[in-house]
Amino acid sequence: MAPSRMQGLGPSVAVVLAAVGKILVDPENRTNGQSDPHDRRPVLHICLTCRPAGTPPEAPNDPAAGSEFHDAVLRRLRDRNLGSSIRVNPISCMANCEQGCSAALSAPGKWSYIAGFLGAELADDVIDYALVYGASRTGVVMPSKRAPSLRDAVVARVPAHPDDLPEQRDKA
Ligand code: FES
Repeated sequence: MAPSRMQGLGPSVAVVLAAVGKILVDPENRTNGQSDPHDRRPVLHICLTCRPAGTPPEAPNDPAAGSEFHDAVLRRLRDRNLGSSIRVNPISCMANCEQGCSAALSAPGKWSYIAGFLGAELADDVIDYALVYGASRTGVVMPSKRAPSLRDAVVARVPAHPDDLPEQRDKA
């Protein structure tokens, strides 16, 4: 997205839209930086620099809680043989810093969701959420379909690009 079109958007929305357009994959799903336009797997964007919610700014954060969360997700994807089901995109900051470890889910043609208050102990719950998200047509996953630990974790959502909605794809 051109910078001029980002003007006027709130910081969280702008950052998520930028993240949706940026495709990096974990080492097990490496595509040498090339994105496949036909790859419709969910992308789990994980902030590597997040601190746990309520951490004073002067408190040490090394290793960063976000980085530990990211590593836990990769480890559990490997342990569960799910490495090819979800693409993991490590990033730095989604402007959701006050709400603990943050991650976002996106996929072509679906709503994107930002979640906070995450941590390494929730890696399996986040993976399960990403799998249900990936199976849904629009990306909408009702709180009752998420683990209890994630019922209140979603802090915002961003609509799909209007040219890539399921209705448009069905016509193609
Ligand atoms: S440092 Fe993680 S959202 Fe800002």
